[in-house]
Amino acid sequence: MNTSITSPASAAATPAATPVQFTPSGTDTDSPWHEGEIHMQKLVGVDARMAEVGKRVLRDHLIEQHRQFYPQLPFAVFGAVDDNGDVWATLRANHPGFLHSPDPYQLAVNIPRDPNDPADAGMDDSKAIGMIGIELHTRRRNRLNGTVTRSSDDGFAIRVGHSYGNCPQYIQLRNFEFTRDPMAVVSSKNKLHADWESTLNDQAHAMIAAADTFFVATYLDRPGEKREVDVSHRGGKPGFVRIDANGSLTIPDFAGNLFFNTLGNIIANPKAGLVFTDFANGDVLQITGDADVIIDGPEIAAFQGAERLWRVFPRKVVLRKAALPIRWRDQTDGASPNSLLTGDWETAERKVAAMQNAITWKNLKITRIVKENRIIKSFHLEPLDGTGTLPYKAGQHLPIRVTVPGHDKPLIRTYTLSSSPSDNRYRISVKREGVVSSYLHDHLAEGDVIEARAPAGDFSIDANAKRPAVLIAGGIGITPMISMLRHIVYEGLRTRGFRPTWLFYAARTREDRAFDDELVELVKAAQGSIRLVRVLADPTDAEPRRDYEASGHIDMNLLRSLLPFDDFDFYLCGPPPFMQAMYDGLRGLNITDTRIHAEAFGPASLQRRHDSQPDLPELAPASSTETKVDFSSSGQSTIWKPVDGKTLLELAEDAGLAPEASCRGGNCGTCRTKILQGNVTYKTRPSAKTAPDEALICCAVPAATEDDSNEPLVLEL
Ligand SMILES: Cc1cc2nc3c(=O)[nH]c(=O)nc-3n(C[C@H](O)[C@H](O)[C@H](O)COP(=O)(O)OP(=O)(O)OC[C@H]3O[C@@H](n4cnc5c(N)ncnc54)[C@H](O)[C@@H]3O)c2cc1C
Ligand code: FES
Repeated sequence: MNTSITSPASAAATPAATPVQFTPSGTDTDSPWHEGEIHMQKLVGVDARMAEVGKRVLRDHLIEQHRQFYPQLPFAVFGAVDDNGDVWATLRANHPGFLHSPDPYQLAVNIPRDPNDPADAGMDDSKAIGMIGIELHTRRRNRLNGTVTRSSDDGFAIRVGHSYGNCPQYIQLRNFEFTRDPMAVVSSKNKLHADWESTLNDQAHAMIAAADTFFVATYLDRPGEKREVDVSHRGGKPGFVRIDANGSLTIPDFAGNLFFNTLGNIIANPKAGLVFTDFANGDVLQITGDADVIIDGPEIAAFQGAERLWRVFPRKVVLRKAALPIRWRDQTDGASPNSLLTGDWETAERKVAAMQNAITWKNLKITRIVKENRIIKSFHLEPLDGTGTLPYKAGQHLPIRVTVPGHDKPLIRTYTLSSSPSDNRYRISVKREGVVSSYLHDHLAEGDVIEARAPAGDFSIDANAKRPAVLIAGGIGITPMISMLRHIVYEGLRTRGFRPTWLFYAARTREDRAFDDELVELVKAAQGSIRLVRVLADPTDAEPRRDYEASGHIDMNLLRSLLPFDDFDFYLCGPPPFMQAMYDGLRGLNITDTRIHAEAFGPASLQRRHDSQPDLPELAPASSTETKVDFSSSGQSTIWKPVDGKTLLELAEDAGLAPEASCRGGNCGTCRTKILQGNVTYKTRPSAKTAPDEALICCAVPAATEDDSNEPLVLEL
């Protein structure tokens, strides 16, 4: 049965997001790429690289390897444009050999006409066509587009316009078998008709909801009457295509070849045709409609692996039952490794819901506690209300709040997330030290609940940057580094390119070190791109190479002896004297301040020497006169005296207020407070960032005023 469903196309009901706006100039480019593709490449900063790549990979003929590949295939996917200008994607199958290349500029396609296939109308003589040949049992695929030459109803030839290879990502492995004669067209003379409210609607929904694979056709009329049609494969975890409330489809765009054939076409000509197939029963679902591309917004941050989104607003939908003469069976363990690294809409939607509630304290349940060594325990946490974890950056910390017996108010501390953003969970790893860490170690069990706010902090790494990174950790300073390494490995597997990274990890003894097995696994997964140097101050009972790579301390001699001559980004975390020694040593080697990123866990900030042309203004002097400080929310007032030199946090606490604070050293940002009037300054520049109208009151004091006016400082407290 053939049925067509027509739905009102509208972008209105989908979640708030601004699609890419692009108007082609109407002139052609001298590049192999058209304006839309170049615009998308520019948006991600790869246009210069792609200009070179395009010249190398886009060919006007079929190379020998492709000429041999196509005859092996039992099916191919075509993109074609009907007389209304609507683009359709379709699957057509026949016994291997139905595609063959009589010469490098042609591909002969032996398939009969099928009036039930809405794409068929676009396969007339001299029409532009796109094709992808894909071998689902090996993941090989190649693409071409060109022009139809047709002299009979039994087949046609494609005169090659562009031909190129395609990478095998996101393809689920499947084996095929034919179930009937592919030359016989089954469902004949079935007119397409409108029938939106029937059960078919549910069938279409079910097919899309279960799909891990579909194909998309798009096209562009280039200046000079050159029409180019593209058809492309898309894969993900089942359900990666979301059906929105208004009937539109939202699709995450994962890391790919950065050509942007499909999305470049869509922004220049906002139309798309999709084809889904039920691999088990041969049903084919075809959709044509309008489309757009979204490059930012919370849903992209929330959907693991999504680099952007695109949407299709269906106008015509055709479901053809058992239209294909071929069936496929999933191969055991045939799921695409790339797809397994991507997310799903349910998790993404929970994250978006959590983001809307990010500034409040939320209850987190301790789902697992792992003893990493004699002094460090890891706590795995998840939101009690079932909303997802918030998106975070590798290296950021989680502010937590616990009620400790004997303390009259909840205590706040910050703990770096030792999990990575792709883990979809929070893990903090806590060293037993004072009140809160001991409470976590000794009194909390799996199932207990603590409070946490949104992850925060500026200490994070770009896993996709090309410059090698050197992570230097001392003791518990390993927590941000393990998060960063996890993220680098995940991104490396996802994008098939690892950021070269060194980890120098210092511990006093073998027993004081944590995450040994996890580190070894990460190094293995990074396929040679991560180098681990474990340094023990006291290697008694430890075996060189098995348990450590160097003894003593991490110093510049060790770094110089092991690091190749290169330009690095350094990341430091550890006890204050360790960090200061590392920083001073690196600066002594002429490493610029901006290349050294550091996180302090306590109140002692790193004393930085800024580069000769600092981009930061000098810190203002502190007020030299007594200054009235008003706490506006509580209605309290007090006097700050230069002779006491108290911080604004201490002043507020003296006045009986209990502002939130954790590190008390300008490192975590917990004490950020709005300044309603006046200015503050700091003895040393804090590492946590603030907006111009905010103060880190744990280390701020009133700043001197230019005219020594006695204007009070007003804080929103
Ligand atoms: C950005 C950031 C990230 C952080 N990440 C981590 C992390 O990943 N893992 C981690 O374990 N910590 C981390 N911390 C540190 C953490 O926030 C706490 O500061 C730490 O756990 C100590 O808190 P506490 O309540 O246990 O100790 P507190 O009671 O606050 O004591 C602080 C210090 O004083 C000492 N002390 C306490 N009482 C006494 C006493 N009576 N006599 C002598 N000394 C005393 C303690 O030994 C401790 O060193 C981070 C801090 C920041 C700012
Ligand atoms: S309490 Fe950490 S920055 Fe102020």
